[in-house]
Amino acid sequence: MNIENLVRENIKKLKPYSSARDSFLEGTLLDANENGIGSVWDEYAVLNRYPDPNHRKLRQAASAYLGVNADQLFFGVGSDEVIDLLIRIFCKPETDSIMITDPSYGMYEVAADVNDVKVIKTVLDENFQLDLNDIREKVEAETKIVFLCSPNNPTGNLLKKEDILELVNDLNCLVVIDEAYMDFAESNSLKKEVRNFENLIVLRTYSKAWGMAGIRCGFSVASPYITELLYKVKAPYNLNMMTQKGILKAIENKSTKDSFVSTIISEREKVYSELAKMSGVKKVYPSEANFLIFEVENPDEVYQTLVKKEVIIRNRSRMTRLSGCLRVSIGNSEENELFINELRRIL
Ligand SMILES: Cc1ncc(COP(=O)(O)O)c(C=O)c1O
Repeated sequence: MNIENLVRENIKKLKPYSSARDSFLEGTLLDANENGIGSVWDEYAVLNRYPDPNHRKLRQAASAYLGVNADQLFFGVGSDEVIDLLIRIFCKPETDSIMITDPSYGMYEVAADVNDVKVIKTVLDENFQLDLNDIREKVEAETKIVFLCSPNNPTGNLLKKEDILELVNDLNCLVVIDEAYMDFAESNSLKKEVRNFENLIVLRTYSKAWGMAGIRCGFSVASPYITELLYKVKAPYNLNMMTQKGILKAIENKSTKDSFVSTIISEREKVYSELAKMSGVKKVYPSEANFLIFEVENPDEVYQTLVKKEVIIRNRSRMTRLSGCLRVSIGNSEENELFINELRRIL
């Protein structure tokens, strides 16, 4: 498969905007109409200068801990930005389509709708796994991207690696694996497979295990060709200076993330076993992520009563295959205990 054939013609021809900081980050910088005197707020970074548009330090630092090359890494304002950019690069509005699983994370469909790109849905089977035959039947010549999420939000399970790789091999389009929650099941990541398959793209985020949701940063691992396209299309200075500094700091402190992961997994197991033995909870699904999905008799009522107690979870009971289901994020131990106590009282 030639990936170039999947790229929109206007993007292939696009002459990217040339940012001042593309060429120079140091020296007597009189090239970008910045304020050379200083900044009204400079507590965390040198904010009077534009940030590095190519995220060079960040890509180097991430490349080292991820074991992938820096030229395979693109950084966005959350992985949500990468999702939108991929659709804009590959899908012609009113003509092309993406495929998503149902249920899954809602932003793939929203980003497609914003870009006037058709969405084809494949329903996950009763174990929340891929129905490969259904996918093969429904993929069209105009389908440019299949979005898969593993561990899947909101079901919490990993998709089978062999199914994903079979699709990557068979389909004549891109397959994006959103690994937003993979820090909680790292050994299953497909990030290192990207070098073997030009049509495979892995998305990751600092918003979950790393505890950096407020800084807005996510990234893709993709072929150098696709990575270059992403850098060509993004807004000139998408990642601000504090985000770049903050993520570099986070990477230096990766061991803190690793300890968050262990704590969250052990908290998740505690919440799981409390839910499993609670009368009124019909089913709790196993999870490889930092949330659990569980089934109750009256999800709307349970949800609303929790809201009144200011315990906020997510009502997922109207999603395909999730009738009766609520999703709870694993919080800190006090939050988890409060949630369990309130839920027990309600049920
Ligand atoms: C599966 C999945 N992908 C991506 C995101 C968005 O991540 P980010 O904060 O990096 O935009 C989320 C957020 O909930 C998610 O659940």
